[in-house]
Parts: sequence; C-alpha cells; structure tokens
Amino acid sequence: MYKKAPQALHATCSICFTNSVLITSYLTMSRSSITSSTRMLLVSFVLASSLVIVAYGGNFYQDFDITWGDGRAKILDNGELLTLSLDKASGSGFQSKNEYLFAEISMQLKLVPGNSAGTVTAYYLSSQGPAHDEIDFEFLGNLSGDPYILHTNLFTQGKGNREQQFYLWFDPTVEFHTYSVLWNPINIIFSVDGIPIRVFKNFESSGVPFPNSQAMRIYCSLWDADDWATRGGLVKTDWTQAPFIASFRSFSANACVWSSGTSSCSTGSGSSNDSWMSQGLDTTGQEKLTWVRNNYMIYDYCKDTKRFPQGLPIECSLA
Ligand SMILES: *[C@@H]1O[C@H](CO)[C@@H](O)[C@H](O)[C@H]1NC(C)=O
Repeated sequence: MYKKAPQALHATCSICFTNSVLITSYLTMSRSSITSSTRMLLVSFVLASSLVIVAYGGNFYQDFDITWGDGRAKILDNGELLTLSLDKASGSGFQSKNEYLFAEISMQLKLVPGNSAGTVTAYYLSSQGPAHDEIDFEFLGNLSGDPYILHTNLFTQGKGNREQQFYLWFDPTVEFHTYSVLWNPINIIFSVDGIPIRVFKNFESSGVPFPNSQAMRIYCSLWDADDWATRGGLVKTDWTQAPFIASFRSFSANACVWSSGTSSCSTGSGSSNDSWMSQGLDTTGQEKLTWVRNNYMIYDYCKDTKRFPQGLPIECSLA
C-alpha cells in the first residue's frame, strides 16, 4: 500500500550461497548419490567457507548487490558493513543475490540518527509480480528525541493491509540491533534482538493464503516518504540535515535457496541444521510477544474495526 523503492532486475551469480545455505545443500546432496570426488570438493568448499564465517561473519560483497542510488550505497570494512545514504536527489538500496523459499534471516541495523523525520529505512523480503508475497520491516524516522516507529506488514498473493506498528524499547540510532525474520511452512516470526514482536501463522486450511510457493529476495533501502512516514505526513524531511545514513552489518541466513526452479532444501529433512524449518513460538517466546504487544504495539490492523466495516480479516479471529 505504501510506495516502494525501485527494485532492480534479478542479478545472476554462480557461487553466491551463504555459508549456511551451502552447508544445507551439502547435507542434502550427501544423502543422494554423488561421486566421492564431488563430495570431497564440497567438503573442502564447506570448510573453506566456514573459515570465512569466522573471519568475516557475513559479507556484503558475497551475498548482496547494490542496485540503485548512484554511489550512495557503500560496502565498507572488507564487506562487513554497508551504508545507505539519502539526500534530496535520491535514496539508495541493495538486494540479496539469492532468492529464498523459506529462510531464517538476521541483519543488524543502525538507523538514521538525529532528525530522521520523513525518512524510511526498509528491510524486507519480496517475490515479484502482481500476486507477490512480502514480509516487511520498515523504520519510520522522527524528529530528534522522538521515537521511531517500526512498521511491519505482510502480503500474501498480492494482498497486504496487515500493518502492525511498534515503538522500540531502545533508541535504534545509537547502536546496531538485530532484526530477524523466521519464515518456514508453519509460521512467520518477526523478531527484534531475539524477542518476537509478531507472528503470522499458517492458516491456509482456514482460507488465509500463506507465502509458501513464491521465492523471495531480500531488499533494503533508504528513501524519502515525508508524505506519510512521520506523524502521518505532518512532519516533513529537513533536507538541511542530509545526507541521511543508515548502516547494516552481520547478515546471516539459514535458508533454502531457490534457483532454476529447485530448492537447496528440496530433499533435506531431519538433519540438525533444519530445525528452523519447523520452529514455532515456545512458551517463553509467547510471553515475550505478549510483553511487546502490551507495552510497545501502537497499531494493529486486527483491532481496526473502522477500517474493515465488512469484518476483520479471517486470521484476526484465529488463535
Ligand atoms: C514521532 O513522534 C511523535 C511524538 O512523540 C509520535 O506521535 C510519533 O508516533 C513518532 N513516530 C513517527 C514515525 O511519527
């Protein structure tokens, strides 16, 4: 429903698996009949890439492409850090090289400090096309000292209108914090520093479409949305404060990479690496979610009866 930053065409790449994905696909392949020399090759590749994990802990050169912003997006510190910048002429953005069909992803973000009113930092998963699926984190900036809003949404089969908004229990501009999405066939869990803030369960059997057939890419961008972002558009971007800068680091993924119509997880099940694929909320997670909802949630589409005069969406009445 909100305007999105431009997305570039799919990038292609040969060896761009994240380390964990590579391990998953290796485990999958080792169960099928591959030659021992291929296996040897894969073993050494997995070992080599594990070393990369230790040395670099996620690398933007390896996992992402800068897609727009004409030099405003920068990969720094040997690929460990990525900064996006926004000024009056343009914002900037990047996207994952891989497409995923189910993933547990994490990224650390440090948002635009000071007067960030009017700016939006977006971090989301999305498939392509009119019936696309999308899982959104969007951070709406504010005047110095006023709180950011963490805006979330979820599209299935092209239909969104599932906004939930939160204040955070910390100032997201001072340090890096971890924002994660667990997307498996059972549910989608949004988390902040390991604390679940939102869960969307698979209610397909009750007629609610669930994203489980379209591969998604990760997109991040920083752009101007002063027509709606801050106090509903009342507070405009102060361009004398530009350039606005948001920082990203420590990307990690347990994921099923989708490539040429096949998933790297297609025959994989039961290995210890796959536990994220069947993970839901445990009791502690449920308690934390309740704490967030009681104390930090400022908007829930499921409570907005005015907006849905014909009745709230089906999932709102399901546990
Ligand atoms: C900005 O601050 C105002 C005043 O505290 C608050 O009402 C609003 O929710 C905050 N966030 C945004 C993004 O507007």
